[in-house]
Amino acid sequence: MAVAVDANADAFRYDAIALFQRLLREQPLTHLADGSVLLCRHEDVAWALNSHDVRRPTQWSVSRKPEGPFRDFGRNNMIAMNPPDHTRFRHAIMPAFSRKRTEEMTSFVEQTCDALLDAMAERGSGDFINDFALPLPVTVICHLLGVPNSDAAIFHEGSAAMLAGLEITATPEEFAHATAGARTLFEFLHDVARVREQNPGSDLLSLLIENERAGKLTRDEVVWATITLLMAGHETTTHLLGNGLLALVRNPAQLALLRQDPNLTTNAVEEFLRYDPPIYVLFRETAADAEVCGERIPAGTMLMLSIAAANRDPRLFTDPDQLELSRSNARENLSFAAGRHLCAGHALARLEGRVAFSRIAARFDEVGLAAEPTPRAGVMFKGYHAMPISYVAH
Ligand code: HEM
Repeated sequence: MAVAVDANADAFRYDAIALFQRLLREQPLTHLADGSVLLCRHEDVAWALNSHDVRRPTQWSVSRKPEGPFRDFGRNNMIAMNPPDHTRFRHAIMPAFSRKRTEEMTSFVEQTCDALLDAMAERGSGDFINDFALPLPVTVICHLLGVPNSDAAIFHEGSAAMLAGLEITATPEEFAHATAGARTLFEFLHDVARVREQNPGSDLLSLLIENERAGKLTRDEVVWATITLLMAGHETTTHLLGNGLLALVRNPAQLALLRQDPNLTTNAVEEFLRYDPPIYVLFRETAADAEVCGERIPAGTMLMLSIAAANRDPRLFTDPDQLELSRSNARENLSFAAGRHLCAGHALARLEGRVAFSRIAARFDEVGLAAEPTPRAGVMFKGYHAMPISYVAH
C-alpha cells in the first residue's frame, strides 16, 4: 500500500528521519496532496539540484506571503532567484568567499571559539545552543559582513522570525512576525549601509556597496543581499554545531574516537552534515517534462527535495543510519545543495565546524545532556532552540 505523506503532520516535523527511511525503502517518489512531488533518493535529489531543466519556484516563493517587506524579501533574495538576476547577485558576493578569504577567517574563528569555550568552562553546565552554537556563527557572520556584533540580538531575532516565515507550515502569526522582522532588518541595515559608504573597508557590505557604485546592484538590493547572508549564514551553522554535538553525545564511542584522533575532525563535520543536516528539504520546480525515478513528471511540477533522506540513501551510504566519523564518502552529502545554488558559505561553515569540534573534543570531558533538547518546529530547518548540557572542561 502506498505511504501517504502529509508535509504538515507532526511525523514530518518531528520524526522525519523515520518517515524518510521508510520512503527510501518503499516509495522514493511520493505525490503529495497539493500536486507537488517529494523526492528521496540521492540520485534524484542530486539530479534536481544540478539540472538546467529545474529552477527555483519564484512565484511560489512569494505567493503565500502577505504584502510587505517579508514578501519583498521573497522577490529579492538570491536563493529564490533564477538567472540572470541570480547570476548578478552571485557574482557580487563570491569574491568574499574565495579560498584565500575563508582561510583568512581562521584565526578569528579560533579566537571566537576559545573565548566562548573559556566562558563555558567556568560554568560546568549550560545551554549549548545559547552559549556556543548560536554566538559563534553570529559573531563570524557579523565580522564577515562588517556589521556591529553589538547588534547581534537584533540580527538574530529578525532573522529567526524570517526563517520561521519561510517554513511551509508558517501560520498567519508567524508571517506577521516575519514581516516585522524583515522591516526591522531592512531599515536597520539601510542605516548601517549609509554609514559604511562614507567609510568603506574590506568587509562584505563594502563589497556590495562597491557593486552598487558600479551599477550592478541597487541600494535596496545591497540591503536584501546583506539580510540574505545574515539569515543564510548563521542559524544553519548553529544547527550544524547543535545537531553534531547531539550526535556525539548519543554516540559516545564516536566521541572517544574523535578525542583520540583530532585528524578525524574534517571528515566528522561531513558526517554530521550527512547524518542530521541543518536543512532537511529544499524546493524546486520542473521547467520541462522530466523522467524521474521511473515516472514522467510534467513541466511546472513543484518538487520537494529531501536532503535528509538523500543523505541516508543506502544505495550510496553503507549503514546509513549509523554515525561513522571515518565514513569514506561522507562528503557526498547534499547538505549544502549543489549546482547553481550551491551554498556560497560552505567553506566558511566547514571551517567553523572544524575549529569548533576539534576544540570541543580537546577541552570537554564527560559531556552529556542535562535534559532533553527542545527541537525547532519547522520541516525545512532542523535543529534545536535549547540543548542543556553538563561537562567537565579544562
Ligand atoms: C552548515 C551551515 C550551512 C548549511 C547547511 C547551508 C546550506 C545551504 C543550502 C542547502 C543552500 C541552498 C538553498 C537552496 O538552493 O534552496 C545554501 C545557500 C546559500 N548559503 Fe548556505 N548553508 C550554511 C552556511 C552558510 C554560511 C556560513 C553562509 C555565509 C556566510 C551561507 C550563505 C549562503 C548563500 C549566500 C546561499 C545562496 C546561494 C545561491 O543561491 O546561489 N551559508 N546554503
